[in-house]
Amino acid sequence: MDIEHFSLPLLAWYDKNKRDMIWRDHFDPYYIWLSEIMLQQTRIEAAKEYFIRFTAELPDIESLAQVSEDRLMKLWEGLGYYNRARNLQKAAKILVDDHGGKLPADFDALLSLPGIGPYTAGAIASMAFGIKAPAVDGNVLRVVMRYLACYDDIAKMSVRKKVEQQILSIMPDRPGDFNQAIMELGEVICIPNGAPLCRQCPIHDTCQAKADGCPEQYPKKAEKKPRRIEQRTLLILEREGKIGIQKRPQKGLLAGLYEFPAWDGELTQENLAIKLKDLGIRPAAIHAMGAATHIFSHVEWHMTGFHIIVDKNETGERLAKTIQFVPVTDLTEKYSMPTAFHYYLKQLLS
Ligand code: ADE
Repeated sequence: MDIEHFSLPLLAWYDKNKRDMIWRDHFDPYYIWLSEIMLQQTRIEAAKEYFIRFTAELPDIESLAQVSEDRLMKLWEGLGYYNRARNLQKAAKILVDDHGGKLPADFDALLSLPGIGPYTAGAIASMAFGIKAPAVDGNVLRVVMRYLACYDDIAKMSVRKKVEQQILSIMPDRPGDFNQAIMELGEVICIPNGAPLCRQCPIHDTCQAKADGCPEQYPKKAEKKPRRIEQRTLLILEREGKIGIQKRPQKGLLAGLYEFPAWDGELTQENLAIKLKDLGIRPAAIHAMGAATHIFSHVEWHMTGFHIIVDKNETGERLAKTIQFVPVTDLTEKYSMPTAFHYYLKQLLS
């Protein structure tokens, strides 16, 4: 890999072909930070609307540091991986306390902030401050592994470090654009899952995998562990037109978000009626709401939902003290209900 055959043609291609992205119009380090965090697990198109809504309400680091947890979660609702938002706020508080409300123009100082790993620190340092730092994400790894026809395991830290060194050694004078050019090449030309569009690639004539005729074989695919499957029976309690929800624990999956109470395992309507009766709850009606599946990175929820109409004297405490009854419209407007529950939420709203 060298500057003449890799970096310069890639930059020239980027200058001609780069896509419009709202966060590219600004050189505001906060915007760059936020967009990079959003893009970590979210497609560019999907992130756009969230970015607009988020920055309209929280236009700077100070407002992010101050927003309530519930409101922050509401702004992030549907993006998933909610710890990203929590870490953004933790970092914002540190920045307000220790850095005058600004992101530091220093790779190591960025890396020390919650939620900022080597990729994000490199992205912010290079794009916001013009610092020569690599920003190696999955796209960059794929492009480099193909370019070098290298079958090393990209899940290994040592391989990632080596790629960072290589990128740094051929970093031209526009580090932010260069990092984005490699990512963008990986997103639109040197695509995953299927044949890359080599004929449109600005560096195909020096690409080793292209020369060998097998670019899609790279990078080596790591074996994936199968996801754990959890059966859950959701209790969608309704009392005088209000719905019972509870806040999830502050740690773990969907931490601090709201949910319908649930029991582990799959219950039939009959078993559910018996269990409720044992608890002293006598529902006026139980309606099956059907089954839904939600896939997280390591777990799959296989859910069965029941709409349970209870008497006005039922507090919900016999299921859990934490249940609160709220108007249906609050479920969309006020509380953040993760996408996992939207199948049931939609039925309540219809
Ligand atoms: N993916 C993540 N960040 C990106 C950026 N700044 N440009 C292109 N693709 C990206």
